[in-house]
Amino acid sequence: MTSPEHDAAAGPNAAQIAYWNDVAGPKWTGLGAAIDARMAAVQDLLIASAGVKPGQSVLDVGCGMGTTTLACADRVGVSGQVVGIDVSTPMLEVARRRVAERGFANVSLLEADAQTHRFAAQCFDRIVSRFGVMFFADPVAAFRNLQRAMRPGARLSFVCWAPLAENAHWRIPLEIVSQALGAPVAEPEQTPGPLALSDVTHLRDILEGAGFHGAKVSTEAVFVIGTAPEEEARLACHMGPSARLVQERVPSEAVHDAICRRIAEALSPYVSGGKTILPASVHLVTAERAC
Ligand SMILES: C[S@@+](CC[C@H](N)C(=O)[O-])C[C@H]1O[C@@H](n2cnc3c(N)ncnc32)[C@H](O)[C@@H]1O
Repeated sequence: MTSPEHDAAAGPNAAQIAYWNDVAGPKWTGLGAAIDARMAAVQDLLIASAGVKPGQSVLDVGCGMGTTTLACADRVGVSGQVVGIDVSTPMLEVARRRVAERGFANVSLLEADAQTHRFAAQCFDRIVSRFGVMFFADPVAAFRNLQRAMRPGARLSFVCWAPLAENAHWRIPLEIVSQALGAPVAEPEQTPGPLALSDVTHLRDILEGAGFHGAKVSTEAVFVIGTAPEEEARLACHMGPSARLVQERVPSEAVHDAICRRIAEALSPYVSGGKTILPASVHLVTAERAC
């Protein structure tokens, strides 16, 4: 008999599962708390929208290192429970450590694919996700699966990235890397990845297809808060769309260094109080399961 993990790794999201275990997961865990500092504004938006209450049962989809899971656990109290689901072993290891450090007995972390995992029917009052729902091979099937796990009247709240042009933290480095190394090969917009739900019409179609009628999509201006521009430049060559292009084209060390310098220069006008504060844009989505 195969384990659920093994089944997921051979399932429809096998490529993303390998990516989040072997490539992105180790990068994210290497950044640790810096991720939360960058995403503080987004986290506040999501938590306010979710309206998690004491005693509720909450699912955090693509919970990663558990920041949103922990915020929900704080809110449900001892009479509630929170489940975090993710496919990345290294990210879940960090989440497990953090849950243990906080002494939460009512949080469980599940290594499984949220698109295909057989949740108990109608068991959650809230489903939340901070950037964890853009990686499904079949997003309609995934959201339908999540809907089945919601109680009547339960609320889904998630954030996903708006288009690249509205996200300076990615756009500026990508423009510079493209000038230096050539533009990336265009991929269909809906390929699983950070921008897969950035088109609002497509996003609405997915939610409708999954049975979430009347979902609210609100595009919100936020800031991604980084440290020094030199550190931001290093990060842009390590993670995200610009890093992907750098890793694909493998520039010489001298070209790599020149790219980093140019990115740092381009980001320096955004520095305030020692932080690089970059305008960004996310879609905040809320939808309910009909009673
Ligand atoms: C951009 S990260 C966000 C992590 C976390 N929510 C945060 O904001 O720090 C996306 C997360 O989704 C997870 N993920 C990707 N595909 C998934 C799937 N099919 N089922 C569950 N988790 C998935 C990844 O492993 C990763 O942890």
